[in-house]
Amino acid sequence: MPAGDALADGFRGRKILLGVTGGIAAYKAADLASRWTQRGATVRTLMTPAAARFVAPLTFQALTRQPVATDIWRAEEESHHRPEHIDLASEGDVFLVAPATADFLGRYANGLADDIVTVTLLAFAGSVLVAPAMNDRMWAHAAVKRNLALLRERGVAIIEPGVGHLACGSFGAGRLADLDLIDQAVAKSLAARAR
Ligand SMILES: Cc1cc2nc3c(=O)[nH]c(=O)nc-3n(C[C@H](O)[C@H](O)[C@H](O)COP(=O)(O)O)c2cc1C
Repeated sequence: MPAGDALADGFRGRKILLGVTGGIAAYKAADLASRWTQRGATVRTLMTPAAARFVAPLTFQALTRQPVATDIWRAEEESHHRPEHIDLASEGDVFLVAPATADFLGRYANGLADDIVTVTLLAFAGSVLVAPAMNDRMWAHAAVKRNLALLRERGVAIIEPGVGHLACGSFGAGRLADLDLIDQAVAKSLAARAR
């Protein structure tokens, strides 16, 4: 079986929760959403309000052909079903947050749940991967390091950022990891989970 087919098989019929937070690298998450949808996965995108200022939710909706969750409250006003974050959390095979901002890492590490991404994460029992992306001085900050250490301790997989030119104009560590690396990490996580 060609390698591409084996890769697609790992995604076909799976449900991926893609959390997008408000960093400049948010546009790169659209590429991941597109790849996985083409391989037959159902990708449900969850965006913080800050993420929705960088990339329109419509981009993810069109690429994944699925509704995008951007608000804890909106879906509740339209439905009498279980809360959307509980539904999403119980259906996902894996949850990836890319890019993960410093702000998001702080909220998630401390168990806060005031946006659709963090509230769904707290209700999610499966494998979580986060791919941080930020300015190099933010990445080196003791508070960010501590939040990452806490998340690692709890079994969250951190896909470390790379070194390179950053959108803020500096050069250093903080660039969202290469998309192929993130893709491989998610494929590995799906392969480890029984269907
Ligand atoms: C132009 C611009 C680019 C930003 N890029 C990043 C980034 O790459 N990483 C980051 O951690 N924060 C970045 N921020 C700051 C976040 O948007 C801010 O902390 C926000 O509260 C994040 O919210 P969220 O974590 O709920 O998405 C940026 C802000 C602006 C205005």
